[in-house]
Amino acid sequence: MTFVVTESCIKCKYTDCVDVCPVDAFREGENMLVIDPDECIDCAVCVPECPVNAIFAEEDVPTDQRDFIAQNAELAGKWPIITRLKPALPDADHWATVKDKRALLERSPPSDGKPEAVAGADSTAQGTRCD
Ligand code: SF4
Ligand code: F3S
Repeated sequence: MTFVVTESCIKCKYTDCVDVCPVDAFREGENMLVIDPDECIDCAVCVPECPVNAIFAEEDVPTDQRDFIAQNAELAGKWPIITRLKPALPDADHWATVKDKRALLERSPPSDGKPEAVAGADSTAQGTRCD
């Protein structure tokens, strides 16, 4: 199983979730984060950190959000790792109350500054595995 970031994150990107993840499973896009299902250890500590309740266990993802299971898996392979809290997007508090944001998802990596590392490109950049 894994945990999954859903539609509520789009155009908010509060990043509170990132700070608590013990295995650096979050990946950053321009206006949303996703969770890498190959890294997530199902600890659930990120769930209550999200101000917009965007994160669900895979088995509990609402019916109208289930496409995000595949989106997280796909985009996690394309977006860089994010391990530290950063400022939310400028209009996050406005977008936090908007329900239908799916069409606004940007599939590009973040354009603000250097990514920390590209997922899978350099295993020495993570250092948190214990396998
Ligand atoms: Fe990280 Fe745990 Fe959330 Fe998975 S459930 S993304 S391991 S904090
Ligand atoms: Fe997104 Fe919530 Fe994390 S808005 S960045 S899933 S804290």
